[in-house]
Amino acid sequence: MANSKARKQKIIKRYDKMSKYYDSLDSGISQASVNRRKLAVKFLNIEPDHLILDVGTGSGVILPVIARKLVTGKVIGIDLSTGMLDKARENIPEEFRGRVELKEDDVEAMSFPDDHFDSLITTYTLTTVPEPRMMMEECYRVLKPGGIFVMLDTGPPSKKHGYPIYWWMRLSAALFGYTFINRRYTDYLHSGFEVIGEERFYGTTVYIVVLRKKG
Ligand SMILES: C[S@@+](CC[C@H](N)C(=O)[O-])C[C@H]1O[C@@H](n2cnc3c(N)ncnc32)[C@H](O)[C@@H]1O
Repeated sequence: MANSKARKQKIIKRYDKMSKYYDSLDSGISQASVNRRKLAVKFLNIEPDHLILDVGTGSGVILPVIARKLVTGKVIGIDLSTGMLDKARENIPEEFRGRVELKEDDVEAMSFPDDHFDSLITTYTLTTVPEPRMMMEECYRVLKPGGIFVMLDTGPPSKKHGYPIYWWMRLSAALFGYTFINRRYTDYLHSGFEVIGEERFYGTTVYIVVLRKKG
């Protein structure tokens, strides 16, 4: 536990610092990764009144993409780093501000009630958190039965030809602090989720998986 607390402090420090240049680094290295986030949002099947959670929102890149599809609904972005949340606040265009909320919260111990959200999304966060299983448990808990959870992240390739890209990515990931890109989401999957779709990109090292909470 103490170890996990220390790792969280390290994450906060790293992302607070990185918040100043995160967006330029991200789009500079790969515009494709920015576009892939937009593709991930499409799998959420957003209705205008939905309540949606972005788990580990960072600089909130996908929040306006979600907010533009909402009318009475709302998207909440949570993160531990206040630096990243401040950046996210700057990144939300005025017209969407009424439909977006930003909150300092721990994805491994969320402050929301059970069965609360219509859908959940997370992009490049499973590879960052100290306790990925706790994150997945929490995501299961706060999602309504029948709700959709879309995950976009990197991981070991599903096909052999992806390994050269994977090793290159492990190097570049160090720049962002994705310290655990060797994680496979299947190792942390809550049994109450069913996989309803998976797409692989970039030599199969990047995936979008669509999960549904049973019931
Ligand atoms: C690699 S960034 C991804 C940010 C954003 N989703 C994106 O696509 O650019 C990972 C984010 O997860 C946040 N994070 C890591 N551990 C967390 C935790 N336990 N609770 C909340 N946020 C966390 C970091 O502060 C960071 O902003």
